[in-house]
Amino acid sequence: MTTDRRDTPIIAPKMHHATFLTLKLDEMVAWYRTVAGMTPVHYSEAAAWLTNDEANHRIALICHPAVKKAVDKPTSTGLHHTAFEYACFDQWLDNYIRLRDHGIVPFMCLDHGITMSMYYADPEGNGVEIQFDCFGDWAASKEWMWAAREFAENPIGEWFDPDKLVEAREQGLSQDEIHDGARNGKYRPENPPKDVLLPEVY
Ligand SMILES: [Fe+2]
Repeated sequence: MTTDRRDTPIIAPKMHHATFLTLKLDEMVAWYRTVAGMTPVHYSEAAAWLTNDEANHRIALICHPAVKKAVDKPTSTGLHHTAFEYACFDQWLDNYIRLRDHGIVPFMCLDHGITMSMYYADPEGNGVEIQFDCFGDWAASKEWMWAAREFAENPIGEWFDPDKLVEAREQGLSQDEIHDGARNGKYRPENPPKDVLLPEVY
């Protein structure tokens, strides 16, 4: 490989989509519709391309005869999760309630400092993080992530129980009060997950 080590400026491409192999095409399409409001732009027997914004697709799903079930997915290399972001705390927490009413609940919830995040598993066991930015400003959260000792010392964050957040909001606590409380372990679940590995999905 020839390498030019001079510091040449680059125009960086933006991330556009993620593509998954699946054995459960219809189930996956339905799940991403429910969870993230994604709709198919093209949907056939063999594949589907889904989006929930102006892009022609954000998630693609391929159902090929050679595809087989993943082995030891939670501990295999590769993608851990994709992530979706809400613009504010209230929309994010309302979405938790909406999905809970559909019987879809996160397998782990973490206050990372930069974001508060709930992690779901899709029908194939791929992680899907749904977050909001605690700073409400990417520049500010990026600066904090880069510079804060608090993040360096605990980059994973604190576990929280989303039902305790719903209760706190009903009691009139603000987003910042709830975020601070979560960072201090006030909403920790009874039985926090042991690690951040994906659950085994059958
Ligand atoms: Fe993430």
